[in-house]
Amino acid sequence: MDPLDQIDLNKLPRHIAIIMDGNGRWARRRLMNRIHGHREGAKSVRAVVTTCRKLNIPYLTLYAFSKENWRRPAQEINALWDLLLEYIDSQLPEMLEKGIRLNTIGDEEGLPERVIKALDFAKEKTSKNKDMVVNLAINYGGRQEIIAGIKKLVQEVMNNQVNPDDINMELFSGYLFTGRQPDPDLLIRTSGEFRISNFLLWQLAYTEIYVTPVLWPDFREKELIEAIKDYQRRERRFGRTSDQLHTHQAEIPAS
Ligand code: IPE
Ligand code: IPE
Ligand code: MG
Repeated sequence: MDPLDQIDLNKLPRHIAIIMDGNGRWARRRLMNRIHGHREGAKSVRAVVTTCRKLNIPYLTLYAFSKENWRRPAQEINALWDLLLEYIDSQLPEMLEKGIRLNTIGDEEGLPERVIKALDFAKEKTSKNKDMVVNLAINYGGRQEIIAGIKKLVQEVMNNQVNPDDINMELFSGYLFTGRQPDPDLLIRTSGEFRISNFLLWQLAYTEIYVTPVLWPDFREKELIEAIKDYQRRERRFGRTSDQLHTHQAEIPAS
């Protein structure tokens, strides 16, 4: 049986966000340089994008480089940029063929020129694609994103473009990098760490969290399917009681 058949196609997450962690540990266990772990991790990115596209999941957000990752050795950081360029180069044809739009969240400022150029090129090339959005979080921090959104909003209030009385959750969401995209339904973190590490702080308010001990380079289609199956067993209550949900469901005529 195709493992994809184990998934309920009527209960898929619309937006999956992933903290891709554990590349360094994967390499260390093999007495290899951390960079080999990142290279193997890039293969997992390809696998996960392909599987999400197959399942028709419209939004996927991948944490590729955090604001805090600048604290790593320069050699590792440069290797990550090289891998990112390689990734974009090799995946662009598939993105174009399969209707995938590449988007980035995070600050362009501070990135090497060659990275900005490659990202801008790929974003422009795929800008008309409508079937799926892949957000790469690069030079991204959740708190920084909220501050940047506030600054933009305050500026517009000062220019009389926004009335402070109109500020609400929906309006403010539009000032974040994720704009009008739906919030993630499922957050996956690999390598067993139970923390958010400054990822999508606003957007994760009601997201289901799945932590797996599997290291990112080992996280492929089979592991993604496990995560989705686990998500499908959850009861998302959004503050209501379980009884309310079941009564409510009973009231909705089967279509
Ligand atoms: C995730 O793997 C990749 C990035 C943060 C860029 P790590 O490099 O954090 O791997 P560990 O946590 O050291 O194992
Ligand atoms: C989170 O992983 C950032 C990315 C996956 C890009 P880290 O490995 O940097 O997180 P911490 O430092 O363990 O919290
Ligand atoms: Mg890590």
